[in-house]
This record gives sequence, structure tokens and C-alpha cells, in this order.
Amino acid sequence: MGDYLAVELICAKRDGEELAPGALAWFVDAATNGRIPDEQTSAMLMAIFFQGLSAAELSAWTAAIIDSGERLDLSCLPRPTVDKHSTGGVGDKVSLVLAPLVAACGAAVPQLSGRGLGHTGGTLDKLEAIEGWRASLANEEILRQLDDVGAVICAAGPGLAPADRKLYALRDITGSVESIPLIAASIMGKKIAEGTGSLVLDVKVGCGAFMKERGRARTLAETMVGLGADYGVRTTALLTGMDTPLGRAAGNALEVAEAEETLAGGGPDDLVAVTLALAREMVRLAGLEADPAEVLAGGRAMDVWRDMIAAQGGNLAAGMPVARVVEVVGSPADGVLSRVDAMAVGMAAWRLGAGRGSQEDPVDHAAGVVCLAKPGETVRAGQPLLELHTSEENLLAGALAALEGGFDVIDTPDGSCGSCDDRPSERALVIERIGNEQE
Ligand code: URA
Repeated sequence: MGDYLAVELICAKRDGEELAPGALAWFVDAATNGRIPDEQTSAMLMAIFFQGLSAAELSAWTAAIIDSGERLDLSCLPRPTVDKHSTGGVGDKVSLVLAPLVAACGAAVPQLSGRGLGHTGGTLDKLEAIEGWRASLANEEILRQLDDVGAVICAAGPGLAPADRKLYALRDITGSVESIPLIAASIMGKKIAEGTGSLVLDVKVGCGAFMKERGRARTLAETMVGLGADYGVRTTALLTGMDTPLGRAAGNALEVAEAEETLAGGGPDDLVAVTLALAREMVRLAGLEADPAEVLAGGRAMDVWRDMIAAQGGNLAAGMPVARVVEVVGSPADGVLSRVDAMAVGMAAWRLGAGRGSQEDPVDHAAGVVCLAKPGETVRAGQPLLELHTSEENLLAGALAALEGGFDVIDTPDGSCGSCDDRPSERALVIERIGNEQE
């Protein structure tokens, strides 16, 4: 790796010049290992935010993230490996159902995750609501659990893509998170380092998602699918709706309970629909024949879930933490609930203590919001629409403020939903599919 002057590379990127792969590899390595100050790394990230990355630059940036740490080798496993990554949404507990379900279909699911920041919860935070459950596993434990149980959800170890940890932390505090090439390299760098053979991406679109517009979501999906192809990872992306929370619960313990209900054969229609759509993609990419709907109905996914949690020390029999304070928000009128805004619910759950402001903050596992009614349902004045759960009464005011203007009850002459297309059973939750695998 040659030597460069960081400021020259920053100025070149700022002015729209294309940087050589070697220069980008040097920059990421120097940033990760403290050979250049955070100010220069942040300036480069902002220059990329505005100027973007060419295909060759994106490839070099992603390679540098992968090469910054170890790459897991899962080739010793007897089953095909397939993972799922979601770009994050409100009430998105899909992983909790999907990982055991796809394992029950015959695949090995290595799901190495991060913690949640902001209005969308993290899968590890949800699982930590279970007494005794342990997120940190050594590589040997991950391999053993994949072999014995078929699925593992755990924290990505410090050795995996350390460059991303450094770059993401700086992007988070300097306003350069929402860049398609930086997001694509960050997500795919980690997933490729994790060693999965196939990958399904759930790219959320809507007011509660990173990507508010379908066009940008599609570009992100295509960029990630392209990176998967470059590294021989069979990758498919589904664009799925995130205008309203997925399922009814948003908040850690509340979401685990809803996931268990779904594994037991119940659960909200929208959660089941998105989970099965992703499961079918994963099973197909893994080259398996099983029908996920049949496997879910047969109870085998629930068996894997119990094994998965027990293998990481979790005690499901202890029950979930329960909030001390529960406040109900009623419908302001008779009519049809036409909209429940995912961002408003996510912000409310966060303010109730379900989310964290910085990586070090603790979360209140019992806190969150339950949507008692979903868009499209007919409601009466005063009927409970939302339940706010928290351990601290003084957090209610902030949550209620976040929910102001966050839902609409409309009066329609015939009691139909009028122009609302949010009726859960009818709504097109899976908007589009983008894939790179050979059919
Ligand atoms: N999630 C990631 O892992 N990286 C990003 O850049 C954004 C979301």
C-alpha cells in the first residue's frame, strides 16, 4: 500500500475527481488504525456524501472494509448458509421469526447484528429482554450453534469489519449516514465478512425507514445486490413497506412476545406476510425445497427458536419484563383509522425508553408502543388505539408529543377506508424484488 497525503485525497474527492483503488484502501486503513485524525476521516465521508463513489471506488471502499478484519469461514457447515439484513423499521421483529423458521427449513442462518440507534430498535436489544440471553459469542460458539441448532443471532465480534465500526460512528455524529454508497458498503462489507453464502436484503421504504422514497430504496438495493454479485454472494433484495409499524408492537419485550405469538402460528397478518416472503427467498437462494408456510404451521420453527435462545443462556420460562406504567390513547372520533405513522410510533417508543441515543446508553426492555388498531380498521370515539408502556411516568409527555399528528381517523359515509390503501390484509407489503442470482 503506497503512502498518500490525506488532505490531497479529501480535496480530490471534494472536487469530484475519481480516487484510485489503492488510495481508498490506504485511506480506510489509515482511518481505522488511527494514522489520520477523525477530522480528516469525517471530511472525506462528507465529500463522499456529496460526490458519491464510482463503481470502481465503491468496490475498493467495500474491499477495504472487509479487509480491515477477519472473514468468517462457514464452509465447514453441512447446511447451506443464508442470512437476512433489514435496513431497519419500526416494529421490525422479522429476524426473530425468520432465523428459526429458515433453519427449520434446512438452512444455517448466521445472523450477526448490531445494536439499534434512533427510532428503530436493534435485534440484539430485543433478545436481551429475555433473562440471561447472551449476545456475545466466540467464533467457535457461533459455528457450533449453527451446526447444532441451525440459527444464531449474536453480536458481530470486534474482529469483523472494524473499519465499518469506526466509519459508521463518525458518520452518525457528522451527518453523513444517508449516503447510498456508504450505506451499501457498510452493510455488504459486514455481511461478506460474516461469510454467508446467500443473503436476502429487506430494504424498507416509507416514512418510518431510512429510505423514504422508492427510487432511492431501489438504487440502494441494486447497489447492494451488485456488491453481493462481485463477491459471489447470491443476493436478493425485497423492497417492503414501512409507512406504518410492522405488526402491532414496537419495543423490545413487546416485540419478542409478538414474535413468539407468530412462531406459535398466530401473529399479525402483515408480520406473517413479510416474514414468509423473505423466508421463501432465503429458502430458494439456499437451494432448498421446503415451504416456509407449512414449516411455520407445523411448529418446527418454534422448536428451533427455543433451542436458539437456550443455547445462548436465555430463560424463556422467566417471562418478559413488564412496564410499570401503561397509558392508553383513545380514538378522537368514530370512523376509519386511515393512517398510523411509523416514524411517530418509533419516536414515541424511543422516548418511552425502548431505544438509545448513543451506543453506550441502556434501554428499557419493557418500554414501547402497542398499536391496538391497525390502519383500515373501523373505530369508535374513545376506543383505545395505542398503548404506551414505560417504567418512568415522566417519559409519557414526550411520547404523547411524538404521536401528535401521527394518526388519522377519517369519517367516510359508507364506513369504508376511502382513499386509504393501508388495510393490512390488502396492502402490497412487498413492493419489488431485485436479485443477482442465476435463475
Ligand atoms: N446500517 C448499517 O449497517 N450501515 C449503514 O450505513 C446504515 C445502516
